[in-house]
Amino acid sequence: MTDDSLSSHLHEMDLSPDPAFTEQANGTAAMYDEAAADHEGFWARQARERISWATDFDQTLDWSEAPFAKWFVGGTLNVAYNCVDRHVEAGNGDRVAIHFEGEGGDTRTITYADLQREVSKAANALESLGVATGDRVAVYMPMIPETVFTMLACARIGAPHSVIFGGFSAEALHTRIADAEAKVVVTTDGQWRRGKPAPLKAAVDAAIHHGEDESPVEKVLVVKRTDTEVEWDDSRDVWWHDLVDGQPDTHEAVPVDSEHPLFILYTSGTTGKPKGIFHTTGGYLTQAAYTNAVVHDVHPESDVYWCTADVGWVTGHSYIVYGPLANGATQVLYEGTPDTPHQGRWWELVEKYKVSILYTAPTAIRTFMKWGDDIPAKSDLSSVRMLGSVGEPINPEAWLWYRKNIGGGKAPIVDTWWQTETGGIMISPLPGVTTLEPGSAQKPIPGISAEILDDDGNPFTEAEKVGYLVLTKPWPAMLRGIWGDPERYKETYWSRFGPKYYFAGDGAKYDEKGNIWLLGRVDDVMNVSGHRLSTAEIESALVSHPSVAEAAVVGAADETTGQAVCAFVILRGDAVDNGEETVQELRGHVAKEIGPIAKPRQVMIVQELPKTRSGKIMRRLLKDVAENREVGDVTTLADSSVMNLIKEGMTSGSSD
Ligand code: WT7
Repeated sequence: MTDDSLSSHLHEMDLSPDPAFTEQANGTAAMYDEAAADHEGFWARQARERISWATDFDQTLDWSEAPFAKWFVGGTLNVAYNCVDRHVEAGNGDRVAIHFEGEGGDTRTITYADLQREVSKAANALESLGVATGDRVAVYMPMIPETVFTMLACARIGAPHSVIFGGFSAEALHTRIADAEAKVVVTTDGQWRRGKPAPLKAAVDAAIHHGEDESPVEKVLVVKRTDTEVEWDDSRDVWWHDLVDGQPDTHEAVPVDSEHPLFILYTSGTTGKPKGIFHTTGGYLTQAAYTNAVVHDVHPESDVYWCTADVGWVTGHSYIVYGPLANGATQVLYEGTPDTPHQGRWWELVEKYKVSILYTAPTAIRTFMKWGDDIPAKSDLSSVRMLGSVGEPINPEAWLWYRKNIGGGKAPIVDTWWQTETGGIMISPLPGVTTLEPGSAQKPIPGISAEILDDDGNPFTEAEKVGYLVLTKPWPAMLRGIWGDPERYKETYWSRFGPKYYFAGDGAKYDEKGNIWLLGRVDDVMNVSGHRLSTAEIESALVSHPSVAEAAVVGAADETTGQAVCAFVILRGDAVDNGEETVQELRGHVAKEIGPIAKPRQVMIVQELPKTRSGKIMRRLLKDVAENREVGDVTTLADSSVMNLIKEGMTSGSSD
């Protein structure tokens, strides 16, 4: 479709809410007014209506030590009790919590009563390994039920977990384990990837035996998933089936303070060192449950919900584990890739489990568009009534494809903007309430306030003018800091526009109708397939290679993944440039240092990098090269001939 026919097509569509949907929707137009009239009162109501407290809170928000928030002060609760036990106590023990589907087709149906037993056994097992309230547990696992059991078992004990995505390398795992000082690691022998087992525990072993440093890890608990051969340390390693299976299946959930840390999740920032974003208990759970109810419109007694994210990312935390389970929902958990054993796997799962709500990412939708309409058409998708998108802007063309081919031409699509730091959805339409605008996340949800600021920090509402997105009021699921680094927290989020505004790092604009359009990051952070990667982190991985003198990384536009990693590298004087071979070696080196997701699509070996007189690399110009554009303004370069040198003398290799 051309841009013109796309926009005229959009104009003809009626995207106002369907009255039948509105009638049953959890979200209402009145919520906007209620929240605007009394911000704290609104959130206090969400907290009391959606969450079971062991002790009620006596203050909704303490912002006296801003930007360090305390929500629901004085309250105590247990997250696992809220996500599991209370549903059993309410008589819903037979309701399915998780329909698990392994990549190879093995399945497991887990009811809330089963979940209560499994989580209790895992909690007893962790305690037997010496894990106590406050201890950190690292989780390096694939998408299997034991991962959910482990996270909830940690919450049950009050031991913050740090989940590390299974695609990260031993090196990345090492720094995250060390930073959080994790006492126990839970992992598997291996994970299934496109029909083949890939080792996982081996990376844990390497992360623990790393150089001279003494590892904080005392025990490693290992689930047997793939029968992959593993090295074994008898004094440290324990099989899950030996330890967990024999534990008592009841466990007393310990209520913790509302502000007790629930988890740490590492994300990339503008420097090479990842940030340990940490979230606490009461506020986080309240917002996760509220948003899953009003934005995904989950009705636990009738819906089958499926969020396709990996639990290793915040989306998996908030919208696989905590939000849906707090609400008592039934969901699908799928272990594998979308094209195993064939490209119709997801749609077969939608048909098989009668999925009614699907939450996925634009990069996946664009991949399905490429694979062809005939693939989803083979399955019966009539159960789908609600669709969601997260991770990056969804382009209108992908929006329309999603609506037509997956949503039967009528399911509302919610484009949800949020971040690891925000903990839960912040800007999104409310299905059944909002008239949709493809490509825009539209409006802060009830209880959330945002503005767009100009360079001088002044808010404006003018249409089509580009500025910076900020959040103007504290919200319950907000990060409480960066683990071990309060200064970096203040500096990164609360200094760009002063202490009144949380600086999100995203560019944004309003349209004529007042909808917010998110325009991507304004810092040196890339978004590849909805995953956040830092240019600095990949640059430091590249310069750790003995042949590399200097490196500059940019995110270049990519049709499928949104952005792709492009690296410009200067080799050391004594290194030999073996062309394609060197390029492949450097790509592999990044995959080894960080993980396959960070592997550059392109590595270009150059003689010079464009720098300003003060020595700052001008990434904007490199981006022009990477995106095959005419190179922009070079007048601030120390040496303006550098760009010609780069374009002429490039050895370029691209991805497999
Ligand atoms: C960054 C946060 C939120 C969970 C997944 C990513 C971008 C996210 C959208 C959206 C436009 C979006 C932003 C944000 N982003 N959702 N709906 N529209 N951009 O979490 O890794 O913390 O990344 O993802 O740039 O700042 P994350």
